[in-house]
Amino acid sequence: MSQTLINNSPHTFRAPGRVNLIGEHTDYNDGLVMPAAIDFSVYVRIWSREDRKLEIRSEDFDEQVEFDLDESNPERRVHWSDYVVGVAVMLERAGHRLRGAHLQIRGDVPLGSGLSSSAAIEVASACALVANSHLTIDRRELALLCQKAENEFVGARVGIMDQFVALFGEAQKALLLDCRSLEFQLLPLPDTVNLVICNTMVKHALAWSAYNERRAQCEAGVKHLAQWLPNVKALRDVTIEELEQFRHDLPDEVYRRCRHVITENARVLAAAGALKQHDLRRFGELMAASHRSLRDDYEVSSKELDLMVDLARHLEGVYGARMTGGGFGGCTVNLVDVDKVEQFKRKVAKEYQLVTGLSPEIYICEASNGAEEL
Ligand code: GLA
Repeated sequence: MSQTLINNSPHTFRAPGRVNLIGEHTDYNDGLVMPAAIDFSVYVRIWSREDRKLEIRSEDFDEQVEFDLDESNPERRVHWSDYVVGVAVMLERAGHRLRGAHLQIRGDVPLGSGLSSSAAIEVASACALVANSHLTIDRRELALLCQKAENEFVGARVGIMDQFVALFGEAQKALLLDCRSLEFQLLPLPDTVNLVICNTMVKHALAWSAYNERRAQCEAGVKHLAQWLPNVKALRDVTIEELEQFRHDLPDEVYRRCRHVITENARVLAAAGALKQHDLRRFGELMAASHRSLRDDYEVSSKELDLMVDLARHLEGVYGARMTGGGFGGCTVNLVDVDKVEQFKRKVAKEYQLVTGLSPEIYICEASNGAEEL
């Protein structure tokens, strides 16, 4: 691999993973979310080529693929490189002509554990490809193009939360995002607490089909409610009173999915208020209510996630604990007093291992900056 092109020194771009503090399964319902970017990242080192090919190398997998930007009908390979190729394809389809490049990718975001390694690789690749092609693209557009790559090329119907926070996150801040208008506020997180992420080490194979099923149930709810409430375009537009009033004829499961989304949006707003008033107790109560709603109404938790939350919530110095991300395994997020973190880690790891036989990974995270060139 030649790195000797004159005036063509490599540049490195970083994009972070994320943890969602509250607002789960609301993004694809035009609702509210409150994630933070975390200090685990994907790094893309890029330098250009004379032709229109991308040579994409993963240092972590020790694999390399080539992609021709002039290929007329590119298809996914069901491979990590789909995230990079998908982003390149969407940039080109949006009219942004790319230069060929060598890309070297590495990362430390735990894979498949709900911390958005996929958005991190998409966003880091997008930033690298854009800069390498001397383009300037608005970060909101970039977030939407990365989401499109995941929706249409990779084939996962995700919302906008992960790509957005990977671009707009800030150190020491949570990001309150309106997924309809894409307006956001950065809310300071107190430096007396850490974001502690507990990885159950369990992944469920059917997570994506269950995710799509939840989306379909939300759409069914909207369709039903719009018969009486013609202005309803998404669950975002429905109040809990309206849901109760028009719940007749709704299958119980669809009703409970809708109830989760509607109450979760309200919890995000309340949580933002609590954070602004430095009321961590209240914030933690809302996290607990979010977990219960995800467990009972939305049914995306798992016995390992429930156990991890139960082990954490009564420990000293813990304000709140809940599952985070899509669910069916993956991680919990915990808000823990800085000086109780080590004790928290020890106790949770020991108890979790005792019950499940699995040794959990526990990450003490800082809210971090969004994508940047290093
Ligand atoms: C996954 C998706 C996000 C969001 C969450 C659930 O992480 O990528 O868009 O829908 O699930 O909140």
